[in-house]
Amino acid sequence: MLSATELGAPRSGLTPLLYRVVARRSDTADVTTLWLESLDGSRLSFRSGQFNMLSAFGVGEIAVSISASPCDSGPLRHTVRDVGSVSHALCSSDVGDVIGVRGPFGTDWGVTGNATPNDTVIVAGGIGLAPLRGAVEELVAARREGAGQVFVLVGAREPDQLVFLDDLAVWEKAGAVVLSTVDRSAPGWSGHVGLVTTLLSNAGFDAHHCRVLICGPEVMMRFTARALIDLGVDPASIWVSLERNMQCGLGWCGHCQLGPLLLCRDGPVVGYLEASVLMNERER
Ligand SMILES: Cc1cc2nc3c(=O)[nH]c(=O)nc-3n(C[C@H](O)[C@H](O)[C@H](O)COP(=O)(O)OP(=O)(O)OC[C@H]3O[C@@H](n4cnc5c(N)ncnc54)[C@H](O)[C@@H]3O)c2cc1C
Ligand code: FES
Repeated sequence: MLSATELGAPRSGLTPLLYRVVARRSDTADVTTLWLESLDGSRLSFRSGQFNMLSAFGVGEIAVSISASPCDSGPLRHTVRDVGSVSHALCSSDVGDVIGVRGPFGTDWGVTGNATPNDTVIVAGGIGLAPLRGAVEELVAARREGAGQVFVLVGAREPDQLVFLDDLAVWEKAGAVVLSTVDRSAPGWSGHVGLVTTLLSNAGFDAHHCRVLICGPEVMMRFTARALIDLGVDPASIWVSLERNMQCGLGWCGHCQLGPLLLCRDGPVVGYLEASVLMNERER
């Protein structure tokens, strides 16, 4: 099949490319990872932390972070939580189904080609690890070439809501410090119990010389950032990923406005100093 570009048609940023689901995995009861390949054989170039607009045809289109790593040579990867009509349709996709992909959009975590001798601390709540997964992969790879230590701290409400357990094991084996916790224990769980903030003080990172990347519910990001600042982390070294309803993804429609920012263009990754004064604003 010829793509629109091959046919000579100008491709607008609003036109999705067609991708086929080549693999799927149920991560938890309501979270599914989809591996996608474009029908025209093209490969998407992106940076960790960016997102695509995914369409389930006949249902709608939503913003979903890229959970692949720019280092991956394999298919594109997205991890979706089933919370409503479009995410449900995407999570229900079978291998062989075709979905639409527009992107990539937005800012990134700033780790690509930015190896630092300082520690990098990743703090994720629940599916918040999806937008961070590519960054961790990049940081773990850079660590092999002498970059600073990588700390991955993950929290979930209950043990069966922890995602990417296979990746956590691989990152730990590769030398990262990986700590996980749950808000509520369950039979079979012998790990840490408590909010993700309770992992911070004993994790072992150098609070005075580190950068921190946080993704999760806004309340979790606020409390985590404040706890880090209390430990001595420079607020200018903390980054968060913000979510608001997206429509165009191109800075045209204004749906994703948060204060002076259009989050599809100026986010989702925003420095904590800027984000902290905006995070209390209600979504339009
Ligand atoms: C930049 C960005 C990256 C994102 N990355 C991911 C991702 O990697 N994986 C993923 O599963 N989701 C991600 N989301 C959230 C995803 O876009 C929403 O869950 C989705 O829009 C819900 O649409 P729906 O039609 O399924 O549900 P709807 O019917 O629109 O909503 C169902 C319920 O979900 C709530 N909801 C809607 N939008 C959001 C939102 N943005 N955040 C939290 N709750 C919401 C609604 O208030 C409602 O209660 C991201 C959002 C943004 C802006
Ligand atoms: S989604 Fe349209 S301006 Fe951001």
